[in-house]
Amino acid sequence: MEKATLTYQNHVLELPIIKGTEDEKAIDISNLRKSANLITLDLGFQNTGSCMSSITYIDGEKGILRYRGIPIEELAEKASFSEVAYLLIYGNLPNKKEQESFSRRLTQNSMIHEEMLRFFDGFPPTAHPMAILATMVNALSVYYTDYYTEDFQAETFDLIAASLISRIRTIAAYSYKHSIGEPHVYPRRDLQYASNFLYMMFDSPVNPYVPDSEIEKALCALLILHADHEQNCSTSTVRLVGSSMVNLYASICAGICALWGPLHGGANQKVIEMLENIKKNNFTIKQCIESAKDKNSKFRLFGFGHRLYRNYDPRALILKKYCQNIFKKFNYDDSLINIAMELEEAATKDDYFIERKLYPNVDFYSGIIYRMIGIPTNMFTVMFAIGRLPGMIAQWKEMHDSVPLKIGRPYQIYTGNTLRHYVPLNER
Ligand code: SDX
Repeated sequence: MEKATLTYQNHVLELPIIKGTEDEKAIDISNLRKSANLITLDLGFQNTGSCMSSITYIDGEKGILRYRGIPIEELAEKASFSEVAYLLIYGNLPNKKEQESFSRRLTQNSMIHEEMLRFFDGFPPTAHPMAILATMVNALSVYYTDYYTEDFQAETFDLIAASLISRIRTIAAYSYKHSIGEPHVYPRRDLQYASNFLYMMFDSPVNPYVPDSEIEKALCALLILHADHEQNCSTSTVRLVGSSMVNLYASICAGICALWGPLHGGANQKVIEMLENIKKNNFTIKQCIESAKDKNSKFRLFGFGHRLYRNYDPRALILKKYCQNIFKKFNYDDSLINIAMELEEAATKDDYFIERKLYPNVDFYSGIIYRMIGIPTNMFTVMFAIGRLPGMIAQWKEMHDSVPLKIGRPYQIYTGNTLRHYVPLNER
């Protein structure tokens, strides 16, 4: 095994090098504190691995993204979302029998307990759908309590995983109906995952949902492209919270809250708000690019840049094509897509973005597609959560399957007051 040598004061430490199946290498510092009374510090974990995982592989330099070794380009084109969910969670694409049983579990667990509908009465119509989603996912734990088992039983997990993936879609659609004052629409037994969601969103007693295969295919691809992305902020949150041995619902609720942030999954909503702001104020593309580069300006080019991708986010390249296809097919008069493409054109030619390797990420085009499908802007991050859920569950399961399961508990470097004593109020 390769080793790294760390010399500190009169200590020479040999640290093992861990190598992954794609030749990625890491210094294993598991014994650093015990052997040298040292810890490492890495703000934002920009150089630190938190685990070894076999679920998703990303090569940020080459713009490669694979789920269990299969390129996302193939999965987005050929697979169904439920097949990809199964692949991420269980490690392989399902055979016919496995697919039928997984689909049956999704169908049989697509409704939420009728008493849970009363929760919606407590939310104002203006409630952000991510707040509703996080609340309702955690609330599932009080209605579906067959998970409170100390030991991690496979059949219990299989049921909870499938029911969460199915019910998150129902909760999302119900939150939309609540926000527009329409009666919620129950899920159907005969529709695929994405089609059932669109049916629950857009069917109503007076306006029947009219399915469109191109839109359903685009939504299925969107969900697949969001399904996992290794140890991103929200998935790492799911792992950390889950390492306390709390149930899957609470762990996923924490992940949904982390995903909401505008630097993370909330960026797709910010992209549309940014484009609408540009259109409303007639900003020129040049003005936008200059503001994005100006450290004193609050303007940030949302949907651009990524911690890992130093090239195009491969998901953005695929979504750009879907964006253009839907735009042409429905002849949308949506000038936002033109602004987005002009911004992309200008930024990718600008030295500031080129030097920092800032390219469009998954959020840059996803919001425009959601908007053309008719999904309200404040639900874009909910769509991200629906897509990402199988990945969060897969990562949570992988952590629980790892032996030993260690609770996550980072150290710190203390920079506060040294020892001092209490001073009575009249002496301060
Ligand atoms: C997602 O981790 C994942 O995998 C996430 C995700 C997933 O699937 O889970 O891929 C989903 O979260 C995609 C990212 C969505 N967020 C946005 O689009 C928000 C805008 N992007 C940035 O905030 C930023 O690029 C991040 C948050 C995505 C990445 O931040 P980093 O890696 O911490 O990089 P940084 O902020 O240190 O930026 C490095 C430089 C800085 O300039 P300098 O200090 O070197 O002069 O690049 C600049 C930044 O100011 N920069 C930008 C910019 N992004 C980075 N400048 C203008 N506009 C931007 N969008």
